[in-house]
Amino acid sequence: MSYQIEPWQLRWHGLAVDQLRRTESTFALSNGHIGMRGTLDEGEPRGLPGTYLNGFYEEHDLPYGEAGYGYPEAGQTIVNVTDGKIVRLLVEDEPLDMRYGQALEHERTLDFRTGTLRRRTVWESPTGRVVTVRSERIVSFTQRAVAAIHYEVEPADDLQLVVQSDLLANEPIAQQTNDPRVAAALDAPLLSDFYVAEGTRAVLAHHTRRSGLRMAAAMDHVLDTPEGLNCSISAEADLARFTAAVDVPAGTCLRMTKFLGYGWSAQRSTPALRAQVEAALAGALQTGWEGLLAEQREFLDDFWEVADISLEGDDELQQAVRFALFHVLQAGARGETRAIPGKGLTGPGYDGHAFWDTEMFVLPVLTYTLPEAARDALRWRHSTLDKARERARVLGLQGAAFPWRSINGAECSAYWPAGTAAFHVSGDVAFAVSQYVTATDDRDFEATCGAELLVETARLWTSLGHHDRHNGFRIDGVTGPDEYSAIVDNNVYTNLIAQRNFLGAVAACEQHPAVASQLEVTPDELDAWRSAAEHMAIPYDELLEVHPQSENFTRHAVWDFENTPEDNYPLLLNYPYFDLYRKQVVKQADLVLAMHVRGDVFTPDEKARNFAYYEALTVRDSSLSAGTQAVLAAEVGHLELAYDYLLEAAFTDLHDLHDNVHNGLHMASLAGAWTALVAGFGGMRDHSGLAFAPRLPLPLTEFTFRMCFRGTRFRVSVRREDATYEIVSGDALELRHHGEPIKVKPDAPVTMPIPPAPSLPRPAQPAGRDPRRR
Ligand code: BGC
Repeated sequence: MSYQIEPWQLRWHGLAVDQLRRTESTFALSNGHIGMRGTLDEGEPRGLPGTYLNGFYEEHDLPYGEAGYGYPEAGQTIVNVTDGKIVRLLVEDEPLDMRYGQALEHERTLDFRTGTLRRRTVWESPTGRVVTVRSERIVSFTQRAVAAIHYEVEPADDLQLVVQSDLLANEPIAQQTNDPRVAAALDAPLLSDFYVAEGTRAVLAHHTRRSGLRMAAAMDHVLDTPEGLNCSISAEADLARFTAAVDVPAGTCLRMTKFLGYGWSAQRSTPALRAQVEAALAGALQTGWEGLLAEQREFLDDFWEVADISLEGDDELQQAVRFALFHVLQAGARGETRAIPGKGLTGPGYDGHAFWDTEMFVLPVLTYTLPEAARDALRWRHSTLDKARERARVLGLQGAAFPWRSINGAECSAYWPAGTAAFHVSGDVAFAVSQYVTATDDRDFEATCGAELLVETARLWTSLGHHDRHNGFRIDGVTGPDEYSAIVDNNVYTNLIAQRNFLGAVAACEQHPAVASQLEVTPDELDAWRSAAEHMAIPYDELLEVHPQSENFTRHAVWDFENTPEDNYPLLLNYPYFDLYRKQVVKQADLVLAMHVRGDVFTPDEKARNFAYYEALTVRDSSLSAGTQAVLAAEVGHLELAYDYLLEAAFTDLHDLHDNVHNGLHMASLAGAWTALVAGFGGMRDHSGLAFAPRLPLPLTEFTFRMCFRGTRFRVSVRREDATYEIVSGDALELRHHGEPIKVKPDAPVTMPIPPAPSLPRPAQPAGRDPRRR
């Protein structure tokens, strides 16, 4: 049983109880503020129910066997908040429960254009009563605090139907953690502050025990039923229930729309939160169900106009790419100065933490498709600057050290070598700032947030690095993106990201001298940044003619791939870290990622040699890698291999390649599908001016991607022999096509020939680690 292949929908026929945990993730709805897993309306059977509010977490002790200076003491875990999705049905005296009776038909559909999750079930009760249930669920992109469910039941015969609509807090769920302290913190994490029920409306308000955050959830109902409706409502601390009973003659229908309002705050009082969610409900009721649907459609029409990728020749990939874009949109659309977690709001995986995944994988997609969302995510980083400054101070450093993983901006990584030492995260934030400002020319953001982020992260690097006797600027003792190497010297990726950080900080200070003086940037400091950038140490192995990903890396023993059984991947779960650290084995693209994001400092020959070298060492024990490997494979001319990596990135979640989709989707990998297409086969780079080098991979007969740059929306259609650039709206653009400057004016598409791709032998991957096939 699997998904039906359709261009604009993800559809699943049949129930498959054992697959529910997985499909609850893929069918999750979110607007970046509220997240709802794709559970069945009636709540059971279920896999792992979850409703999340971005930024709403509980705190707990971080476990350490041995103490050490600078270890973060408190962890944060996203909370499964009050569940408003539940709508139960009693058919005569039998509860609709699909484990009993018979599902004559059952399908669920996530629709990328309407932005809703639909369900249609024809259910026969154990005693032979038949009802058709249709529901449609929405988490609104336009009304950030609002979700709604439209629920319809049509009996085959005259039947009495009872619908119960719940708000349920502290839903008991299987804990995902092995740590009893974390489990205890998450067992019934919500303490009741207030409850009320009146008419068709109820509100529950709670707070968390330790993080002290408050939340409220409210529901209201609009019914359309045959005569004789009998309603009641009740509320207690953790449960509010609206009940509607009515006799429904055959050929007629019971219709109910449930409107939900959610809010949380670290500061607002319970009455203020109640007012907030009631106001959200009032807005939703005023708009009405049809109005919410229309707004959602309009929002998505606009998104697809700027973001869609259409493919001819691979229908399954077409679906996967739109699925990926839809979920990336859902993760970031209305986060509004909150983080974009590694799993979005689709599941409790990674405790709901945000990582560098956001800046290096997700934000590039949003920057070129929904720039406001990228800006807001960077504003979140800006809002956490004080915590990052404090973290730097604790570590004896200057400027700002952003956390490896966090919900509220404070470091939550208990693991030093792959957490604290992964300082590149601060350079990644700076990278995303520069990329966003270049792509949008948003000088206002640069002045109010961007410059400060660039300056404080540049300060971190000056205190982390030093000029050695030969005047090279070294950054020693850090962990790069490849977490199978740790505490290394001069990681090329880190140094190049720091170099760009320095230059970005200098440029921002020159652009905004008043901001620079407010931040007390001195001319000496600017000179120090320029000099560090100019003399940045970039190790090179003259003998092998490749870049070691960090100093001496290429001198380490190569991992014994031949004798590593396939079942022993991911290696981190089967071998001691010390052994991984001292050998040449790469968890995920590191130098290869450097060649993408800092492609301006590598020659084409270096790229080809480095790529082949690291292909033989990279095991992709993380879902972040395939998209990047696709980009470089395409650039150096391995189109077929690039396509295979694109497929792996695009199908990571739909095919559950890492066997953990039940915990939530992999946002970086979904974003990686876009990157593989746009930066890989489209060859899009923005090192100095927007450039493309499109090539069509073999299975496709054409593909078209869209994006926006400085307010201009445009599309690029790629065929085997040529590519066409066309403005959708906005001003003319100056671009490069395979190195040749072109100007694209509105209403004047430009078609350019595509030079033939070099033909190179396909590089080998470690035994058994070639890209996952369909
Ligand atoms: C990767 C990290 C990543 C994290 C969250 C890990 O497996 O190695 O780079 O940030 O997952 O996606």
